[in-house]
Amino acid sequence: MNQKNQNEVLEKIVSLAKRKGFVFQSSEIYGGLNGCWDYGPLGVEMLKNIKEEWWKFMTYRPDVEGLDASILMHPKVWKASGHVENFTDPMLDCKSCKSRYRMDTLGESINSKKKKKYLEAIDFSKLGINGGLNSLSDEELEEKFEAALTDTELVPLILNEMVCPNCGNKGTFTLPRQFNLMFKTFIGPVEDSGAVVYLRPETAQGIFVNFLNVQGASRQKLPFGIAQIGKAFRNEINTKYFLFRTREFEQMEMQFFVKPSADKEWYDYWKGERLEWYKKLGMRTDKLRYHDHPADKLAHYAKEATDIEYEFPFGWGEIEGIHNRTDFDLGRHEQFSSKSLKYFDEESKEKFVPYIIETSAGASRGFMAFLVDSYREEVVNNEQRVVLGLNSRIAPVKAAVLPLVNKDGMPETAQKLEEDLRTAFKVFYDDKGAIGRRYRRMDEIGTPYCLTIDTQTSEDNTVTVRERDSMVQERISIDKVKIYLFDKLNS
Ligand code: GAP
Repeated sequence: MNQKNQNEVLEKIVSLAKRKGFVFQSSEIYGGLNGCWDYGPLGVEMLKNIKEEWWKFMTYRPDVEGLDASILMHPKVWKASGHVENFTDPMLDCKSCKSRYRMDTLGESINSKKKKKYLEAIDFSKLGINGGLNSLSDEELEEKFEAALTDTELVPLILNEMVCPNCGNKGTFTLPRQFNLMFKTFIGPVEDSGAVVYLRPETAQGIFVNFLNVQGASRQKLPFGIAQIGKAFRNEINTKYFLFRTREFEQMEMQFFVKPSADKEWYDYWKGERLEWYKKLGMRTDKLRYHDHPADKLAHYAKEATDIEYEFPFGWGEIEGIHNRTDFDLGRHEQFSSKSLKYFDEESKEKFVPYIIETSAGASRGFMAFLVDSYREEVVNNEQRVVLGLNSRIAPVKAAVLPLVNKDGMPETAQKLEEDLRTAFKVFYDDKGAIGRRYRRMDEIGTPYCLTIDTQTSEDNTVTVRERDSMVQERISIDKVKIYLFDKLNS
């Protein structure tokens, strides 16, 4: 698929998400709020199902405990974590049209030819290029360009040559400034610097600071983990691709505390487990991959790291990060709080700061990946149908109850069935329009089963069950529908 078609696919998915009530733009009637989205009736069900699957996967095992820490935390937490100092992006403005750019995205939007031209205008011997620009491969050219943008001496020279992608004016950029991505607010009635608190940019810190509370209360021994699902906020400069990069999003994070000597074993274990989770929930294997971070690109706290990436229509993008965070986090919180966060190992009688293996998944980004992955258009009997082939555990509606016609007692029987099923599953009752159209509507929102009450129902107490993907129909006794759905949905 070429880029244009891929963008069209994404547009179709965004449009379906809105039309069917999965996702709406936040504050739409006021023109929307950039980087914020609202989950509609189907979206909230689907997101809840994803979170529930993750929660069960993590906390229904004996060595992981749950936690729900508050969003607002003591401001020192973010000093200890390094967010106050380091959670920044370099940004610059165009003085002419006032457009604001994140430095790296400005670089991304320029092709190699232009990069070469800009580099030619500066004294590139300072970049250690001896044989001239023509001796460089495309990759090396990219590297030199990136290096020039982070060199305080060269950056003003190169910016002087660059053209604003929005207004086309040359040399109108300000110098880059560091911009902190945390949202700041104030606690209490006085808005002074002593009252500053932050909306958490990740849920992880709530787990770190509660490590000994949870360990003591649950009497867990190493190795064990703490899992949490919750909102996180980042004042992203460039929000993009629908739910992919937003300012408010949800994370599903699990921090696994281990003996330092066992870090490699557990890192490999969780790396494998997490990829399998996506596959078991039906995500296409060829659309998933690991991106291992090379040693020279690791975050300051990490010994080893990988991203689980999904191939979106716009390219590969991270949906989850797995890090060996060493003893960095607990060590820093010890230092900043002056409280010991050491673990006492009863067997060896040793006291030490555990290492942490982190699995950090985006619930909203995962939601988008499941949506994209399941979307398909196909022609059946010369008719096009759109299907969300969602795994039944994730599908927002599990079954639709459809009386074939609105007479002959069919609606009454259908309503009775719907009322009974409603106690166990999210079901949908639909009596509007031709049966074929009703099936299509259910396919489009990913409903795995349609149950049709027809003339034969009153004769032999059976209903037609139609399966979404194969469209195969079978008749089963109306009394067996609930158990049938239990079996199918949990298999
Ligand atoms: N505690 C580690 C941490 O927060 P991260 O790579 O910054 O690591 C983890 O974030 C996951 O959170 C990402 O893999 C992604 O799924 C999700 N995420 C991060 N920033 C996001 C954003 N602006 N919008 C949506 N999801 C985001």
